[in-house]
Amino acid sequence: MSNNWMTRRSVFLATYGCQMNERDSEEVLGMLTAQGYSVTEKPETADVILLNTCSVREHAEERAVGKMFELCELKQEKPDLVLGIIGCMAKLQQEKLFKRLPKIDLVAGPAELYDLPYLLAEIQEKRQQMMAVARPVRPLEMKQHDFHRPGVTAFVTIMEGCDKACAYCIVPMTRGREVSRPAQDILAEINRLVDAGYQEVTLLGQNVNSYGKRFPDGTGYQGPLGRMRLLEEEPESLFDFPKLLRLIDSRTGIKRVRFTTSHPIDATDRLFAAMEECESVCESLHLPVQSGSNRILRMMKRGYTVEAYQKKIEALRVRVPDISLSTDIIIGFPGETDDDFEATVRLMEAVRFDQAYIFKYSPRPGTSAAAKEDDVAKEIKEARNQRLLALQEGIGLRRHQALEGSQAEILVEGQGRLERQWFGKSRGNHAVIVESPDNLLGQLVPVRVTRGTAHTVFGEIACIGSSPLSVQPQWGSPPSR
Ligand code: SAH
Ligand code: SF4
Ligand code: F3S
Repeated sequence: MSNNWMTRRSVFLATYGCQMNERDSEEVLGMLTAQGYSVTEKPETADVILLNTCSVREHAEERAVGKMFELCELKQEKPDLVLGIIGCMAKLQQEKLFKRLPKIDLVAGPAELYDLPYLLAEIQEKRQQMMAVARPVRPLEMKQHDFHRPGVTAFVTIMEGCDKACAYCIVPMTRGREVSRPAQDILAEINRLVDAGYQEVTLLGQNVNSYGKRFPDGTGYQGPLGRMRLLEEEPESLFDFPKLLRLIDSRTGIKRVRFTTSHPIDATDRLFAAMEECESVCESLHLPVQSGSNRILRMMKRGYTVEAYQKKIEALRVRVPDISLSTDIIIGFPGETDDDFEATVRLMEAVRFDQAYIFKYSPRPGTSAAAKEDDVAKEIKEARNQRLLALQEGIGLRRHQALEGSQAEILVEGQGRLERQWFGKSRGNHAVIVESPDNLLGQLVPVRVTRGTAHTVFGEIACIGSSPLSVQPQWGSPPSR
């Protein structure tokens, strides 16, 4: 394969879906730029257009198909343009996509991510459509290409796939069974990020807290013979997520660690203890509950009760009193009655999440719930949606107001909307705006919270003694450890 055709080519890539997909898109752009591509924000100037897609709800799929439909028009002017659908929808819909969008050239699933440079080269040379969706799971032992968007905070993939089987969810079908990335690779990547000046990482996986179940070499606590190993070996040899957090905390210089998504079943006291004891692990947890009704949770096959979920939250709040919590809720799951919905309202009032992402149930063909009738009327779903949004708005506002007068450390990620305003996140994942004439980009800054609104917190730089803290811009240079 000659490299000539690739030089001076440009790629446009748009991403739909979750943070896993955002991270995957970084990898794709990293691989392609290493091959000589430039990245363009304008599809009309691109030689290759890729959409990294999501299938979690119908709306996400329709948005991507609609966008690709529009982009196919560009081929009239530019017959050599390569159009590709990658990611979860590619894995799920496979050749159906060529039928719906006959002008596209490539369909490649999430497990074929590292094949993209080769696939694109083949398409260019042979001028034929290609589909790559056969791998059950991404080979995570393969070297990651280590391209991260410039900034102060970076995503690090630690596992892929999902072994659960929630009745509504398509993800196990698009991402396959769980596989965990070897810990030494994760530690090495984080240390490289630290050297490059990053201050924060978010560890990514569909079920980060079941990390360690299965490694690419077949080891792991639920790999072949894994259960037996668990019985035979010292608990110390169990390489699970809490242990990974402790290793990252002790063996890398990263200042802040976040992780998402965690499943309540795998949220153990070992995890809460690691969160309490590891200085770098932020006081923030995203723990999707999905519903406040035990009847619905059972039908969703979530594997826990509302009481068990609340008990875990209580235990976590004992260990980490200022923990900030966020969740996902699905409304209108088949059979959800007014009583079930009221139980979700009560749960939200009881837990008081800092943030809640509310989704209207969307039937996904092939999931077990899709066999049931989608029987909650559209208007009822909308009314329940509005009610939870309003409820959460009030809870968020009160939680933010309760921060007034307290101190927080923020990592400044960018400029605010107004002049001299800076935007950052607290360790509790609150969005904070602070004013300063100095360049604060990339810095960890102590602030005193002055005002809390429903979605944002305002603060001022905290004073040490009587003089304001002097902050030196250090954007671009590695932070001191
Ligand atoms: N692995 C994660 C999240 C997966 S998808 C977890 O288990 O929590 C992100 C969120 O999308 C889910 O938490 C769920 O709230 C929502 N979701 C998944 N499938 C859905 C569907 N069919 N309809 C509506 N929302 C859905
Ligand atoms: Fe989907 Fe459930 Fe797996 Fe999360 S745990 S990805 S909701 S099947
Ligand atoms: Fe969507 Fe795939 Fe993520 S279905 S939510 S992009 S794992």
